[in-house]
Amino acid sequence: MSVLVRLIERASVRKRAADLAEMRALLAPVSGVRLLDVGGGAGAATEQFATGCAEVVVLEPNRKKVGQGRKFRPTIRFEEGRAEEIPFPDATFDRVTAVVAFHHIEDQGRALREMRRVLRDSGRLVLFEMLPSRAPGPIYQWIGGYRHGGHMAFHSPDQLTEKVRAGGFTRVSNRPGALGYFVLATK
Ligand SMILES: C[S@@+](CC[C@H](N)C(=O)[O-])C[C@H]1O[C@@H](n2cnc3c(N)ncnc32)[C@H](O)[C@@H]1O
Repeated sequence: MSVLVRLIERASVRKRAADLAEMRALLAPVSGVRLLDVGGGAGAATEQFATGCAEVVVLEPNRKKVGQGRKFRPTIRFEEGRAEEIPFPDATFDRVTAVVAFHHIEDQGRALREMRRVLRDSGRLVLFEMLPSRAPGPIYQWIGGYRHGGHMAFHSPDQLTEKVRAGGFTRVSNRPGALGYFVLATK
């Protein structure tokens, strides 16, 4: 991983410290819990909120980030793949998360069905997303598209809550964060 990428990672985690701490509180990562972080990149944010789980898996389509994650974060398991086709059997995980990754997913309905499928009964989904009003402008979208995948579709908290409910989840709610918002749901 280049020095520049590591500096960007560190700054990004520092800027999001309050939201990542809240994510950790919402997930309650205790021993025995198996967690899947969809679109987890090289795992810099994942390790902030998931440490303490029995098993932490990052699913990430970008091969370079998967390689970086495997090299620098050996306690996390990295799998190459997309949210629309999660390469795990039904009911594998107790928690599924996606942190500022959901807006990059092209087929969000299919991704939600997949997230629900790999959760065990009563398992918890926690999404963290940016408000449409804080969505990046065209230049950053271009840079972000290059680094994270071209597609971007932002939702308001109520829109995403409705989408998650339509995906078959129960007890769906949202709450504000410092730089975005959380959507919580149960299978
Ligand atoms: C803005 S980054 C967030 C990375 C990490 N979650 C974090 O908070 O630092 C968005 C990530 O979503 C990934 N992504 C894009 N399309 C995806 C898809 N269809 N399924 C899963 N992940 C995807 C990108 O490769 C990228 O690593």
